[in-house]
Amino acid sequence: MQDRPLVPESEIHAQREFMDRVRLLAHRPQSYHIVTLGCQMNERDSETIAGMLDAMGLCQESVREKADLILYNTCCVRENAENRALGNVIWLKELKKERPEILICVGGCMTQEEGMARRMKEMYPFIDLVFGTHNMYRLPEYLFRLLSERHPVIEVVNSDGSIAEGLPEKRASKYSAFINIMYGCNNFCSYCIVPYVRGRERSRDPEMVLEEAKRLLDAGVQEITLLGQNVNSYMGGGSAFAELLYRLDRLGIPRIRFMTSHPKDLSEELIAAYAEIKSLMPHLHLPVQSGNNEILRRMNRRYTRERYLELVEKLRKACPDIGLTTDIIVGFPGETEQQFLDTLSLVEEVRFDSAFTFIFSPRKGTRAAEMPDETPYALKSERIQLLIDRQQAISREILLEQVGKVETVLVESVSARDAQSVGGKTPRSHMVNFPGNAEWIGRFMPVEIVSAGKNTLRGKILEG
Ligand code: SAH
Ligand code: SF4
Ligand code: F3S
Repeated sequence: MQDRPLVPESEIHAQREFMDRVRLLAHRPQSYHIVTLGCQMNERDSETIAGMLDAMGLCQESVREKADLILYNTCCVRENAENRALGNVIWLKELKKERPEILICVGGCMTQEEGMARRMKEMYPFIDLVFGTHNMYRLPEYLFRLLSERHPVIEVVNSDGSIAEGLPEKRASKYSAFINIMYGCNNFCSYCIVPYVRGRERSRDPEMVLEEAKRLLDAGVQEITLLGQNVNSYMGGGSAFAELLYRLDRLGIPRIRFMTSHPKDLSEELIAAYAEIKSLMPHLHLPVQSGNNEILRRMNRRYTRERYLELVEKLRKACPDIGLTTDIIVGFPGETEQQFLDTLSLVEEVRFDSAFTFIFSPRKGTRAAEMPDETPYALKSERIQLLIDRQQAISREILLEQVGKVETVLVESVSARDAQSVGGKTPRSHMVNFPGNAEWIGRFMPVEIVSAGKNTLRGKILEG
């Protein structure tokens, strides 16, 4: 049985009424600007927030300083993410001196940290509205209260979390869309704060997911990315996620991607899906975190180096051209030189297309934050640099291997620097730039790869 705690329809309806009431207020803000920090979950949440603000009659303003309402959707996965959010907020204090009428709102994961809401109230009294990840759907009600009572609204609830369906949305792209299939995380990796700020795992009804996908497809979306902290645990794990992929494929969506998968839950059915489903793109982000079994055990990752390598082998057997990317943490408490070298050797062995690498950042309330950690930061920095250098060399070799191939690229954008150049991703998720024009955005183009840069490819349209 999978728990699916839906926000009652009557509550969503009540929020819709608040949207109408805000819209009719004479003194409501006219424009908004959202700053999104963190991962794709936050990006998707920001699309919902933008949808709600639009429904309240506000217009999106691209210049932050000009907006009447500035909203920060925050992240706290590492200390620097949090510092960025707080640094920004302090800067807003100055702006508020110049324009006292602007409204400053803070939402997202950081607000859910223990004691954070109280701290914000005491230290940053110029913030008008604080809400958490679990009550984001009540933003219209909070904004109404703020505008009618004219004093700050700080509302963060501690909860296992629920699912709010049927909220408005404003999608960032017309051709490539995120679809949330699940929320929260039950894994409690010992270093990670996400389960504390995003609540327990809960999955959306597959019929709702399919309905959303169908609607997007009808509106011209060419690529969907399914989102969840651990999409493999969808509906409690097993083959449910792979089944969802088959059903989405049958709808006729040209390209399907997803993130993120946890190695411990990567099912045989999902591996088989890579061989069978044409619309499933040959790319998998599979965070490994470390190449050493003792560190993996202390991270509570529940797989071994050997198991991870076995999964990689099976995936490559099912889908020889699959591109693998990963996340790695360097300097976990007590990590020895040898244990770090095990990570380096795993990177050599797997040959990831790319890797996000992080120095361990202690997060209050997590188990790893309490573990003794004697390694000096400078040594951790040296280690991560070694890893980055090695990975960059491998990434470059893999990019060079793509030269000469012809790939179908979904054109996503015009280059900011050169209006005659467009960019998009290959099926394997490599970015390619090539001469073209804005009319091609949202179309699939046959592109011959002509050269490889540091992180991206260059190509040219295949004529005839
Ligand atoms: N749910 C995803 C990852 C979410 S966080 C998964 O399990 O794969 C994204 C990445 O941030 C993690 O994969 C991890 O590498 C990194 N990370 C999380 N907590 C961290 C911490 N305390 N210090 C350093 N890196 C961390
Ligand atoms: Fe964090 Fe682990 Fe959950 Fe990923 S799986 S969000 S790293 S606890
Ligand atoms: Fe950050 Fe929250 Fe995502 S902590 S990484 S924005 S789930």
